[in-house]
Amino acid sequence: MKACSSVITSYPVPRIFGSVRAPGDKSCSHRALLLAGLASGTSEISGLLEGEDVLRTGDAMSALGAQVERLGLGNWQVKGVGTDGLRAPTNALDFGNSGTGSRLMMGVIAGHPIKAQFVGDASLSARPMNRVIHPLSDMGAVVEASSGGRLPLILTGSSNLKPIVYAPPHASAQVKSAILLAGLGASGATSVRETRMTRDHTERMLMGFGAELSVMREADARTVTIVGRQRLSAQKLTVPGDPSSAAFLLTAALISPDGDVTLEGVLSNETRDGYFQVVDRMGAGLGAEEVGEAAGERMITLQASTAPLQGLDVPEAVVPAMIDEFPILGVLASFATGTTRVTGAGELRVKESDRIGAVVSMLRVNGVEAEEREDGFIVEGCGGPPPGGGLVETHHDHRIAMSALVMGTAAKAPVTIDEAAMIQTSYPAFVDDMRAIGADLRPA
Ligand code: S3P
Repeated sequence: MKACSSVITSYPVPRIFGSVRAPGDKSCSHRALLLAGLASGTSEISGLLEGEDVLRTGDAMSALGAQVERLGLGNWQVKGVGTDGLRAPTNALDFGNSGTGSRLMMGVIAGHPIKAQFVGDASLSARPMNRVIHPLSDMGAVVEASSGGRLPLILTGSSNLKPIVYAPPHASAQVKSAILLAGLGASGATSVRETRMTRDHTERMLMGFGAELSVMREADARTVTIVGRQRLSAQKLTVPGDPSSAAFLLTAALISPDGDVTLEGVLSNETRDGYFQVVDRMGAGLGAEEVGEAAGERMITLQASTAPLQGLDVPEAVVPAMIDEFPILGVLASFATGTTRVTGAGELRVKESDRIGAVVSMLRVNGVEAEEREDGFIVEGCGGPPPGGGLVETHHDHRIAMSALVMGTAAKAPVTIDEAAMIQTSYPAFVDDMRAIGADLRPA
């Protein structure tokens, strides 16, 4: 069954047990479609995440001239147009809920002499785009945005972009990627200098498609440089499993009275594994076994079982590597003994929802003591199952929805979410996979 646009309740269950293959990584899936569309020749992608966000990136690539075809579940073929071959779309490009799709595509289109309108849903239309608009404008793209630098916007690219050297003020892989993708269309070398390293899938995948990229590491920064007007060659690639999706099922095992879950084929990358590091420090004792490589990334099998957990102060340095895992961390922290404090995570305010506010209210309606901070939150752990029994407002945020349903599997009373539809954006099989490991999820 697909998660539908309904209210769903998660009832406490005595056991969470089983083995699941992690769905394709969302970040890698977007990038695979974008780079395959820009490559010369026909690429074959397997393991693609067929979540709404990714499908919209595929639709946008088609509207720009690439031939994107689904051959079977997770198996896609993309006939690329070449790095300067995109054509102007006839209709607005609709990115739905997807910050990644829209921001990366702004970089792609910036290097083409075409005009495109970008639109999205209410959540995406409230998110800040100036972080991408400003550097792309410096490179020579022209952007007419809605007030406050938001969607809908119209971007006019150029075949004569100027290369830049840019140090993003936010730790953001989307900003870094947009600039590198624009740099592909610029005349000369474009560099992005990060002081806090963000996920590096764009760099890895660009190299996988044959691009030359240099990475310079200094004590306090990492600079990626791409020379423009390079050709990408079509590839055959498999998308590894999404650690951010795996985190929900693994957490269900950790908090269960009798939990033991294995997640197969999970991407393992130091820019993404912050949550696993933190839960290990809380006492999780996760098992990990290397199982190979896919799309230039290592893959592992991860295993988690019931564990007594201790709250902790999350080190700020680890925040970028777990930026999507704070909603589920909030749930885990509520089962732990002691206090968990998150700081240096102000970026959570501008995710699919204000995730600081949304996490704290999710916990409070379920009887957990939690407090907002400007750049984080504090959770007083219950030292066991929290009361539960709440109706959680998801604010159209897929990760809040999934976190609350995980909480319900082991809280003292059921947890209900106001809407499950957004789960489709990143993990369409979530309800099925949770039921497969023993969760009791029912339309309310
Ligand atoms: C992503 C980067 C992160 C993350 C998002 C996916 C990506 O966003 O939250 O879910 O694929 O580049 P920011 O770049 O805004 O941190």
